Amino acid sequence: MVVAFTSADESTDGWAQPGGAAAVHADGTCDGCDGATGFCCEGGGVAACVVHEIMERTMVELIGIAGGTGDLGRGLAARWAIAGLPVRIGSRSAERGQTAAEELAAELPSGAAPVTGGQLAELEGCDIIVLSVPFESVDGTVEAVADAADGCTVVSALNPLAFDAAGPYVVPVDGGSVAEQVAARLPTARVVAGFHTVSNRQLSQIDRPMDEDVPVVGDDEEAVATVVDLANRIEGCRGVAVGPLRLASTLESITPVLISLNKRHKAHTGIRFSGLHLD
Ligand SMILES: NC(=O)c1ccc[n+]([C@@H]2O[C@H](COP(=O)([O-])OP(=O)(O)OC[C@H]3O[C@@H](n4cnc5c(N)ncnc54)[C@H](OP(=O)(O)O)[C@@H]3O)[C@@H](O)[C@H]2O)c1
Repeated sequence: MVVAFTSADESTDGWAQPGGAAAVHADGTCDGCDGATGFCCEGGGVAACVVHEIMERTMVELIGIAGGTGDLGRGLAARWAIAGLPVRIGSRSAERGQTAAEELAAELPSGAAPVTGGQLAELEGCDIIVLSVPFESVDGTVEAVADAADGCTVVSALNPLAFDAAGPYVVPVDGGSVAEQVAARLPTARVVAGFHTVSNRQLSQIDRPMDEDVPVVGDDEEAVATVVDLANRIEGCRGVAVGPLRLASTLESITPVLISLNKRHKAHTGIRFSGLHLD
């Protein structure tokens, strides 16, 4: 497998089309399903339809984003709300969380799902909590969401990054990776790592589809599948289940390469796995 660096400045011609969730109708059938007979495009009953199964897995009613007042979290919130997934922004300050939610909701097209906001502890009731804060603040953030995260899927998008005169570099962290630190501190949550290489700059351009893969790692296959599906809900992103959480350190190390590429070549890069045909 090869990691390809994609650039938003380049044509996407020649690339396999990014995966995306197929449309599902109100009656629970998917595109290609025959609602009249109850048979789906896969040849089985609708209940056995692959798309139907995926939808059941992604019955996400509320996504919480800890740090959704910031760059990445705000971009993810926008994209998921546009995809019809309700989002709650979590902040250290209730006021900042509410203001960020109101401002974002005002910018979204009509038909977007609701965006609400409040304190980190108010992420209680979310099915999924995405951690989107600077890695130096992971301890305090994890502590603040610990009760809310009980039984949840928690996604770490944190990159242990620093900069010096030579540019960005990876900061070694205890426990192998930031995501493994989170998993150790949230034993009753299903911790997954993903979205490390998705840039807020691209996410925030909501009228343009993304063009990249979103590798996801974790030890709980169901949680990984849910997060892969969430990635697929962002237009132009392809969620890719990769392997166990111990690979998180590798994902957390890619961003300095992308930042260096962006600076050197004046590009806006993401990643694509070549030779990987999913379905
Ligand atoms: N930016 C990207 O494009 C991108 C892409 C992929 C991954 N990531 C990773 O995602 C994470 C968030 O990145 P970002 O650029 O969105 O960060 P950011 O905008 O600097 O911060 C996000 C939010 O974190 C909270 N925060 C900031 N400093 C804090 C501190 N010292 N203690 C506790 N909370 C603090 C703030 O929320 P409140 O003040 O409201 O609490 C802030 O709005 C990082 O780990 C980054 O490596 C970023």
